[in-house]
This record gives sequence, C-alpha cells and structure tokens, in this order.
Amino acid sequence: MKKASISDAKRAATLKEQLNRHMHAYHVLDSPLVSDAQFDSLFRELQALEQAHPELNTIDSPTSRVGAPPLEGFKQVVHGVPMLSLGNAFSDDELHAWHKRISEKLEQAVEDTVSYAAEPKLDGLAVSLRYENGVFVEGATRGDGKTGEDITTNLRTLPMLPLVLTPPTDTTKKLPVSLQVRGEVFMEKKAFDSLNRAQEKADQKVFANPRNAAAGSLRLLDSSITASRQLSVYIYALGDVSANYDIPQTHSGVLAWLNSIGFPVCAETATCEGPEDCLKYYRKLQKRRERLPYEIDGVVFKVDDLVSQKELGFVSRAPRWAIAHKFPAEEATTSISDVEFQIGRTGALTPVARLEPVVVGGVTVSNATLHNMDEIERKDLKINDTVIVRRAGDVIPEVVRVELAARKDKSGPRRRKIRMPEKCPVCKSTVEQKDGEAVARCTGGTEKCAAQRKESIKHFASRRAMDIDGLGDKLVEQLFDEKHIEWVEDLYSLDVQAIASLPRMGEKSAANLLDALQLSKDTTLGRFIFALGIREVGETSAANLAEHFCDLDALGEASIEDLEAVDDVGPVVAQSLLEYFANARNRQTVNALVVAGIKWPAAAAKSETADSQELAGKTYVLTGTLSDMTRDEAKSRLTALGAKVSSSVSGKTTALVAGESAGSKLVKAEKLGVPVLDESGLRKLLGD
Ligand code: IVH
Repeated sequence: MKKASISDAKRAATLKEQLNRHMHAYHVLDSPLVSDAQFDSLFRELQALEQAHPELNTIDSPTSRVGAPPLEGFKQVVHGVPMLSLGNAFSDDELHAWHKRISEKLEQAVEDTVSYAAEPKLDGLAVSLRYENGVFVEGATRGDGKTGEDITTNLRTLPMLPLVLTPPTDTTKKLPVSLQVRGEVFMEKKAFDSLNRAQEKADQKVFANPRNAAAGSLRLLDSSITASRQLSVYIYALGDVSANYDIPQTHSGVLAWLNSIGFPVCAETATCEGPEDCLKYYRKLQKRRERLPYEIDGVVFKVDDLVSQKELGFVSRAPRWAIAHKFPAEEATTSISDVEFQIGRTGALTPVARLEPVVVGGVTVSNATLHNMDEIERKDLKINDTVIVRRAGDVIPEVVRVELAARKDKSGPRRRKIRMPEKCPVCKSTVEQKDGEAVARCTGGTEKCAAQRKESIKHFASRRAMDIDGLGDKLVEQLFDEKHIEWVEDLYSLDVQAIASLPRMGEKSAANLLDALQLSKDTTLGRFIFALGIREVGETSAANLAEHFCDLDALGEASIEDLEAVDDVGPVVAQSLLEYFANARNRQTVNALVVAGIKWPAAAAKSETADSQELAGKTYVLTGTLSDMTRDEAKSRLTALGAKVSSSVSGKTTALVAGESAGSKLVKAEKLGVPVLDESGLRKLLGD
C-alpha cells in the first residue's frame, strides 16, 4: 500500500477535526452546523483516505465511531482513584439529617447555608474515561469500584463522547496533559423502545428496561453492535487530573469547565442553597420525571465547594459529601399464588412468594422475597392474598402490604396460612429454628443438603470470594444440576467437554472458564477463608483471621481461645470456625482445594518472633488514597513488619499515614498531635 502523501495527511487531519466538531455540535450542543448529506460526504471521504492509507486511521478518528473488529475479551483496568457508590436518602427527614451531619463535620450551624450541586440520578451505568493530551485513550466500567473492564472500543462509538477535547478559549490556559472523568452511560427512552421493537422483530432478546439495555450494549465484544445501539453519556465528576493543573474550586464550576472543553453534561444540573432548596429541586424534577427523555431514579446532591468535600471525606465506599435522594419505589397490585422456601448456603430457609405476574416499573415480577416468618406474621400475609409489591432499582421485589379491602371479596380462592415446613424441601432433613433467631435452618449441612452445597459453590465462585470470571449463579446451577460438579473442589477438575455440553456454551466459552478457574488459584488467604463459606465468617473476619494466623493449618488447629484473640472474632464466629474444621468432609474439601493448586502469598515476616520485627508495638492508621499501592497492600506490609493497623486515630496511634483526599482522620490526628506521614514517609518506613 502506498504511504500517504503530505497533502493526504493534511486533508485527513482537517476532515477529522471538522467531523469531530460536527458530531459535537449535533449530539451535544443540539445545533448542527451542516446537513446530514454534507456530513456523510465528509465522513466517506475520510473513510476512503484511511482505507487507502491505514496509518491515517488514528485513535482520535471519527471513523472509529462505527466500531472495530470484535474483541476476544475485555482487559482489566485498575482505577487509580476508586469509583465509589452513593449513600441514599429516602425521605425529606433523611435529607435534612444528611445536611445536619455535614454542618456538624464542617463545624458550622445547621441554619447556616451549604451550597449544593444538584443533578438527576441517571439510571444507567458508571464509566471512567481517560484523556491524554486531549485525546480519548481509555474507558472502563465501574466493576467492583477498584477494577473495571476496558470498554474503550465500545465507548468510542458513542456519538456524544468526545474523541478529542476542545482546548480552552482562553489561550493562556491549556488542556491538562492527563484527565480522567466519570459519568453515566444510558439509553434514552425512545432509543430503548425502538431497540426492543427491532429485537422482537428479529426474534432476539428484548431488554427489561433502558438500564439493562445500556449495560448489555456496552459489554458487547463486537463494538459495531454497540455503535448501532444509540447510547448516550453525561459526565458528572472528575477523576484524576495532572498534578498542578488549576481546576475550578466548586463542583458546579468543574462541570461547567468540563462542558466547555467538550464533555456532555446534563442540562438539568443546578445549584441549591441549603436543604429546603434541595427539596424544591427534588420535587420539581419528580414532577418532570415522566417527561424527561431518559430514566432517572432520583436526584444526587453534592457539596459544591471542593475544599469542604475534601474535609468531609468518605465513609466506607461512599463520599460523605454526596447523597442520592431516591424517588419512591414503584409499586403494583397482584396476588400471592403460593409460597416456596429457598435454602441458602448456611441452610437458612427464606420464604419466597410466587406471584401472579405483574409489571412493576417496566419489569415483569413473578417472585418476591418474604424475608422470614416474623415478617410474614407482621404483615399478616396469606396465600391467595391480594398484595402490593414494590421494586426499587435492582433490588429483589418485596411484598409491601396486604390489600385489606380485597379480603372482603369472598368469591376468589380461599386464603391459606403460610407454614414453615418441618422438613427441608430439598434434602428432607429436619428444619430447626433456634430460640431468639429469626431464621429457621435445614440441619442437613452441605453433606446432606444439595441446595446448601449448590449455594456454597455459588458463593465460592463469586466476585468477593474466589472471583472466578464467567462462573455466575446460572452456570453453577447448570453444572450442578447436570452432575458435573457436586463439591466446590470439583470445579477444578472440570473439563472442556463437560462445560461445552451445557446449553449456550461452546468450546470457546468452556476454554475461557477453564482459564478463569486456573487464574483463580492465585488468591489471598483472606479471600480463600471467606470463599469457604463458613457460617458467620464474613469478608472482614476472614481477612483478620488470615492476617493473624498467616497459614491455613494454624487456623484449622486453633482453639476457641486462639480464635477469640483475633480482631472482630467473638464466641459465635469462633464456635462456627471450630465446628467447620472439626468436620471431616470440610477438611477433605479444604485439602482437595489446596491439592488442586490454590495458593496465596506466604506472609514471610510473620514467622519471626515479634521482638525481632522492626515495627512491633507500633500502631498505624491509614487514610486517603495512596498512589503507588492499595491500602490493603500497605496494611499487609506494615503488619508483616509487626505493626498493628487500626481503623481509628487515638492518642495511642504511632502515626497516621495520609494519602490523597484524607479527611476527618487527618483533622483528628492533627488535633491530637499524632505524627502524620505522607506516602514517601510510608515508603521509608517500609524500607523501600
Ligand atoms: S456521583 C463519588 N452523580 O449512581 C460519587 N453518580 O449510586 C460518584 N449516578 O455508580 C457518583 N447519576 O453510576 C453521581 N449525577 C450523578 C449520578 C450518579 C447516576 C450513579 C453512578 C454511581 C451510582 C452511585
């Protein structure tokens, strides 16, 4: 192929610039600069040039909007700044309470105003976008907040997403060298309707709601299909920006700046003075909700001043300075045709109502959880009752209450009491409810009860446990029901034929699953302990146990006293651990998993005596975001040197390690005169 001449290259650059500008004018500004025919002709000219000279097809080219050759799979992207979720408020009181908490933290009177930025809570999925020198280079899903999937090629097809940013009009200012923004990808209601009509016509899967359609369209390996799906995007936050780049001092200022350099920002954003003003915004938007072209499930309020945001900081996975004020969940009336009992991993029986199918908020609902027998009694529910069901977002539908008026009508089927079965519906073992416990359990254990075994395999494979990519609940069900697996350890002796024999699975997906199983073998001891699904042992206690015992044998042989010496492990958890390891079948599983090759990094320094450890007797607290390592990593390295890592600052704290965006802990440390280390201080401490 002939190399492009200088004039070809110049023409291509001009076309790219023009086409990107036209796309922005049409899709973001809603004011086209040229006719569709003119646009098409420029587009085809560029396509022809790039076909003749592939070196002209750069990543900022608008021709990438039509999609690229299908991918084999998605790469992982680690989010430098974690992608957080939001706390919720469901009532005016809860919003006022939030404002009060903020005022207290900011040490100001509740009556004093706080400026809030207000935005619709878009019902789509969060994405993170990275730009280098103004060019879009990487886009990812939220994933678990720390790691997401690389969906760059799919995102390039979104007409509203700028492939190239517009430099600021003030020529003394430049674009940041590196810029990361966060936003929501969603599908407008109209696009959703026409997609479903087309899907139906083509005998393809129809989507339950615009959110699912958007999610399904973004996670396609073939980006040319994504290109046909009419996805939209609005940017609502800043991620990482090059150091020393001057950004505006308020969230609303940041959004205006982002908009000025080419990002689509929702036109409904506003600022509110104090909580009453926020509630006015909420009600106004609630009234207009139906008429908006996209679905929203509430409003997000954010403290506008960025310095105050920093001061407020975070609680677990959500910022203190933002809240989602949700619209009331959607409800519908139907009747309970029967009640069945599902058996959980630990044998707990959960009553599930089978409902006459009813559409709630655009989704057909035919099951609802009843939680437990106390709840059934409290709500006075019976089979054949007319009930109100509710679903909010993604949560499992619930029965809210009985429609009492319907009981007067005696013509329908007779109402029947809901009874807890005496025997497990799956394994026929006795069902037992201990005094003071809300749940009844099947006493069969994993040895006798296939349902418990199946659920423990689902738990084992889940993201927070062994994180076996592609092995979701449905696939575990199929593998189990087809008798390809019986125990957790059987997962590691699956072969291609067995997996490929399942419906909708081929050799390729079977091979992928085997790869994922292989990858899952490299884990941490904490995850592994959690994955075993020992009753009462959650993620935190599993991590603490791992840190304390450092190896599995020591944990298996620990006495009740040894166990209770671990942080967060009380008598109930200790007893449950003891019972777990006393059971021969459980030991067989654990051994088989280790033999299958599951391994974790050994905690080397722990085997030394405490005195010889450099940081023995010292206590550190970690806060904020570290740039070079995760907090978990920092924690395990400090503890490996004998230090204790605690979650709160007190007079006994040796030092606080404060990363980016440290909040209240930093304030407290300063108040108490506790030394504060930055990341380089931490590195020195660790001997790096
Ligand atoms: S801000 C640190 N703003 O809601 C705060 N989120 O429950 C990060 N969402 O995963 C989120 N509209 O997908 C923010 N205007 C908005 C939003 C919004 C929708 C979603 C987002 C996030 C989820 C949190």
